[in-house]
Amino acid sequence: MMDVFWLEQSEADLPAENDWLSASERLRLDGMRFAKRHADWRLGRWTAKHALAAYLHLPSHPQDLAGIEIRSAPSGAPEVFIANQPAGVAISLSHRGGVAACAVTLSGAQVGCDLEIVEPRCDAFIADYFATEEQELIERTSAADRSLLLALLWSGKESALKVLRAGLTLDTRSVTVRPVAPALHGDGRAQAPALAAPGSYAPKAWQPLQVVYEGEQVFHGWWQNTGDLLRTMVASPRPAAPISLEAAALSARCAS
Ligand SMILES: CC(C)(COP(=O)(O)OP(=O)(O)OC[C@H]1O[C@@H](n2cnc3c(N)ncnc32)[C@H](O)[C@@H]1OP(=O)(O)O)[C@@H](O)C(=O)NCCC(=O)NCCS
Repeated sequence: MMDVFWLEQSEADLPAENDWLSASERLRLDGMRFAKRHADWRLGRWTAKHALAAYLHLPSHPQDLAGIEIRSAPSGAPEVFIANQPAGVAISLSHRGGVAACAVTLSGAQVGCDLEIVEPRCDAFIADYFATEEQELIERTSAADRSLLLALLWSGKESALKVLRAGLTLDTRSVTVRPVAPALHGDGRAQAPALAAPGSYAPKAWQPLQVVYEGEQVFHGWWQNTGDLLRTMVASPRPAAPISLEAAALSARCAS
């Protein structure tokens, strides 16, 4: 299975200065008129640059980070350049509620990540955006677990739409998310999804999921809920559970 690395940063981690952005990134930031977009974009770039520095074992002084650029393809998908050359890595970004996440893996792989807040959603949202199989799963889920399930299904869709580099230009019903019981994970069959009740699995443990695109292409991924945020990651080739870059950096420091 492929390794995917994960880093999260929050507003509190951000410095006031912008000297860690390249000149063209600073220009782009200056052109953002909406405060939320400005803040999200800045936090996303900060998180991605630190994730890339850790993954590629590069220094992370502001002038070094300024040489790592995350540009947007015409689709909106992030692409990494170092000293103006494609960096040979694949990343995905998400921002939600003052937190940004970056997933990093090998060049040539496809990866998507997403953060969501677990909150109640209305019936019209379910009817409009979810596939029939997902709606049936929502029906079968207790009221207590429904908000968690909705956040998980929605976030899994966004991660998959990022893997496909399509975003919301695709119909959200073309991707069906299946939370998979960990014990059953691995045989590739479409299993009856078993969603654990929020208190019944280890906090912070990543749980497997599958996403089926257009009824035939199967992607594998993971989800995690820590109460404040729900995270998903989907990738191809099939990924192992995300590895925290903070923990990886810490164990490297301890070993040296
Ligand atoms: C991709 C999308 C589903 C993410 O939605 P979201 O949950 O609101 O936002 P998130 O914070 O989770 O993710 C945003 C990040 O997804 C990434 N992204 C955007 N479009 C993407 C795509 N087509 N494929 C892969 N990743 C994409 C970007 O890195 C973006 O952050 P950035 O703009 O700061 O670099 C949504 O933005 C979308 O579909 N957009 C439509 C595509 C679009 O508008 N394209 C024109 C862009 S110029």
